This record gives sequence, C-alpha cells and structure tokens, in this order.
Amino acid sequence: MKLEKMDDFFAARIDGYDRHMLTEIEGAEEFYPYTASLLPREHGVNVLDLGCGTGLELEYYFSLNGEASVVGIDLSADMLAALKQKFSDRKIRLICGSYFDVPFEESRFDAAVSVESLHHFTAGQKLRLYKKLNAALTHSGYFVLTDYFAESQEAEHFYFSELERLKSRQGLEPDALYHYDTPLTAEHEIELLREAGFSDARILRSWNSTRTILARR
Ligand SMILES: C[S@@+](CC[C@H](N)C(=O)[O-])C[C@H]1O[C@@H](n2cnc3c(N)ncnc32)[C@H](O)[C@@H]1O
Repeated sequence: MKLEKMDDFFAARIDGYDRHMLTEIEGAEEFYPYTASLLPREHGVNVLDLGCGTGLELEYYFSLNGEASVVGIDLSADMLAALKQKFSDRKIRLICGSYFDVPFEESRFDAAVSVESLHHFTAGQKLRLYKKLNAALTHSGYFVLTDYFAESQEAEHFYFSELERLKSRQGLEPDALYHYDTPLTAEHEIELLREAGFSDARILRSWNSTRTILARR
C-alpha cells in the first residue's frame, strides 16, 4: 500500500466522495443527521468544523439552523471548493490549512464538530489540538466528535506500528501528514479530551466502529 499525502489523497477522490461516504460507511445515513442535531439551534451561534471536507455534516446542520455562522477548516483546497458551491448563501468562512497549525480565537465558538477526520493522528497531536479547542469554546461550549475508533488497545497499537513501518519502508517525510487510518480507542480519546481540560466527555451513540462523543468545556 503506497501512502499518499493527506491533501493529495482527498483531492484524488473528490468525484463521488459524498456518495461514497453516505452509502459505503456503515451508519452514515444516521450519524450525519444525528451529529448535526446535537449542534446549537439558536440564531447567530458560532460553530467550528475541524476537517469539514465537502460539508456533509454542514448540509444537515444548515437545514436545522440556516442562521449559524460556521468556520470550516480543511487541508484540501479541492474539498473546500466542492463545499463552497453548496453553501454560497450561508454564513461560512473557510480556512485551507491544518487544524493543528491554524490559530483558534479564544472563547469564540458555541460548539465545535468534527466528523471522520481525526482518526489519522497520534494521541500527542490530539492532546495539543484539544487544549487549543477547549480554550476556543465559550464557557458553555461543547465539542461533538463523530469518528471511527479502534476496537481494542492492541488494534490501536497495530495501526500506529503499521504506519511507522510503511513510512520507513517508503522513505517518507517523518513529519508530513499521510492518509492512513490510525484510530485510537474511544476510551483513549475520552481520556485525552479530559486531560485537555474538557469537564465531561462521553459516548452518546455507536454505529459499528463509528461513535459520537460529546465533550463539554
Ligand atoms: C473523510 S474526510 C471527512 C470530511 C467531512 N467531515 C465528512 O464527514 O464528510 C476527512 C477530511 O479531513 C481533512 N483533514 C485531514 N487532516 C486534516 C488536518 N490536519 N487539518 C485539516 N483538515 C484535515 C481532509 O482533508 C478531509 O477533507
């Protein structure tokens, strides 16, 4: 398996991406609307989407709250271009970059959301991100994470060691972002969210390996 850089991976798969996600990921027809239903419904709320892609979760969210202001961050200019076409009449600001590097304004967001994006990263990368995210939320703010999780600690270790093996065999840059699934267990993810300062983090629903976690500031 030849590893591709994260943005190249998604750029190459933009055609048919929405259909693939909605029809081939188990539970997707339920977890997108469910995730959107947890986001705030008041007019004028500020919501941050980490790895918004083509905006699948936002399509459901804007149908529930067309007056929300959303900031969407994604590495892939092509995914963002597809998203932009869908939401020309919505209050949305798009940032093309990595959510690890983009600064977040403190106490700015009523809620944050991330769907099927964070399962590519290490615990250390996520801990730093979650601290920054916690500080970016208002006092009553919260984070809705819907993602793919490892079924056991052994599986989690296996994915990371496979990634290191592939990177070294293929002579890849140690710090660049490559597309390879390295999900943590949901329990490990919750530990990180608590360590980052979230007061409460819990699984709300599961669809096979996908779970929705709600973490309150
Ligand atoms: C599987 S897609 C999910 C997109 C959308 N949330 C959805 O569920 O359809 C993962 C997205 O995360 C983005 N992504 C991955 N790592 C990222 C990073 N470090 N910063 C910003 N976006 C990232 C990818 O470019 C891609 O668009």
